[in-house]
Amino acid sequence: MKVVRTVEQLRESLGQLRSEGRGPVGLVPTMGFLHEGHASLLRRAKETCGIVVMSIFVNPIQFGPGEDYESYPRDEIRDLALAESRGADIVFIPLAQEMYPKPTRTKIKVSGLTDKLCGASRPGHFDGVTTVVTKLINMVQPDYAFFGLKDAQQVAVLSQMVEDLNMNVTIVPCPLIRESDGLALSSRNVYLSAEERRQALVLSRSLREARAAIEDGRVVTASEARELIVSVISESPLADIDYADILSFPALEPIAADLPLTRAEGEIIMALAVRFGRTRLIDNIVFTPK
Ligand code: PAJ
Repeated sequence: MKVVRTVEQLRESLGQLRSEGRGPVGLVPTMGFLHEGHASLLRRAKETCGIVVMSIFVNPIQFGPGEDYESYPRDEIRDLALAESRGADIVFIPLAQEMYPKPTRTKIKVSGLTDKLCGASRPGHFDGVTTVVTKLINMVQPDYAFFGLKDAQQVAVLSQMVEDLNMNVTIVPCPLIRESDGLALSSRNVYLSAEERRQALVLSRSLREARAAIEDGRVVTASEARELIVSVISESPLADIDYADILSFPALEPIAADLPLTRAEGEIIMALAVRFGRTRLIDNIVFTPK
């Protein structure tokens, strides 16, 4: 595995592997502090691609003022060991000066999809994501780029961007990976105290219960499903709900209040963001109600 820190070294290493004819290039963008969710993207990338590039970069421009950019967990040594053991060919791990050497004057903004869910509570966040992912795609020129449905809205936004801008890359959505007790894996889970960690199980449980209630007919509409989710989360005294929403996926359109969810067109997303102390956790489930 090659570890590169500059765009020039990245292009050189990629050129070398491409000249060996190793075929399709896969990009796995991350902010590091890697866990099995990230590892699952590498695994998926290796199924399709002969060359797998992982980027590790805590992207300052996707954090708002007062968010956790400074304290975001970092562990380069452990990350490189995990990336190597899971078969990354190149790890690109730039400093902020390498990605943003001068004040930049260009941002990529996807409208519509970015003003709801996490976009509503984190203004500017998705502009930071789409801008850095565009830069990474331009640097690596991958055939495929792999993203987890842990961040389902991110997948929807990036797929729209790639289509709108005719980017020559296929976005591959990958399943959300959970701990065995249901908690969605996240680099931010390390912030949780033992009690917060225990109570955080209400997130996945609320989604599971809402899906079961929709599927056995106890819950019919989106607003009833939302009420059930909110009532399960409220069983946790430490939980402070940022949002709980049910929308179509990937268009992220509201679902008519009186429409039975089982008659909604295509897939729906039930998505949550909940604070436990200073830690904001997200979770979601994407499915076709039957
Ligand atoms: P990060 O939060 O490090 O996540 C990197 C990738 O791993 C994303 O595609 C994310 O959806 C995926 N991932 C995280 N937890 C997962 C889980 N439990 N199951 C499946 N996939 C999971 O998302 C970002 O970084 C950044 O916004 C980035 C795209 C790198 C741009 O800076």
